[in-house]
Amino acid sequence: MPIDIKTEADLPGLREACRLASEVLDYITPHVKPGVSTKEIDRLAAECMARQGTRSASLGYQPSPDYPPYPGSVCTSPNNVVCHGIPSDKPLKKGDILNVDVTIITKDGWYGDNSRMFEVGEVSIAAKRLCRLTFEAMWMGILEVKPGATLGDVGHAIQKFAEGNGLSVVREFCGHGIGRRFHEEPQVLHYGRPGTMEVLEPGMVFTIEPMLNLGRKEIKEHGRDGWTIVTKDHSLTAQWEHQLIVTPTGYEVLTLSAGSPPLPDFVKATKT
Ligand code: MF3
Ligand code: CO
Ligand code: CO
Repeated sequence: MPIDIKTEADLPGLREACRLASEVLDYITPHVKPGVSTKEIDRLAAECMARQGTRSASLGYQPSPDYPPYPGSVCTSPNNVVCHGIPSDKPLKKGDILNVDVTIITKDGWYGDNSRMFEVGEVSIAAKRLCRLTFEAMWMGILEVKPGATLGDVGHAIQKFAEGNGLSVVREFCGHGIGRRFHEEPQVLHYGRPGTMEVLEPGMVFTIEPMLNLGRKEIKEHGRDGWTIVTKDHSLTAQWEHQLIVTPTGYEVLTLSAGSPPLPDFVKATKT
């Protein structure tokens, strides 16, 4: 299937879905602290969605019949969990890092998908650095987005920045087109060569969601829950995710809200 191009008429619905997805992350933020379980964070996220009148795209999701339906309203991935962590009763402890990935569907059927890293109490310098560099890597990718650029340009920018800082890029999971469906074309790889892959056009909507490891890039499935992905070498891993649209002049990040972290300085510099 070709890449779906969103129109001016689609924009209000998309913008709303993405703002609401970001606001779910704002809502849980004060609760991510030592002693709180990821199940409690999941419950709070579900409560926020209910108040919004949205629903979770993750709950019951099955990418293919060999996956069990996903059991949470959000994904909660601590420390060495790369992605798709399942909310659990285990309390978070000081020094943990945690990714929370929220995907909602509005009443009008639009999807909003985003994730952030959270630091639980005071964390190590290495963990802090990993979270910051992964955030910056996502933005290095976003800065490449404009009509005529390619997804290879995006992937290359992320890979170069990550590897230049001694981090590795997870290969098995990628960003994706999104709109009225959770996962559409194209696949947005977080590594690659400039000038390769799809050429970007105004109206394309996709996520950029790099997973970067402190150690080696290899991952494995953890245990028997059918979902949880961990680093093979048990090293720490981080992920950030935004959803954006290609505009006639560049990009518009859609998953922004009052609680979104400030843009990196190198982004501010390109915008003024
Ligand atoms: N939100 C994830 C993404 O960014 C997908 C999660 S699938 C789930 O693509 F079922 F685990 F929620
Ligand atoms: Co996504
Ligand atoms: Co997501």
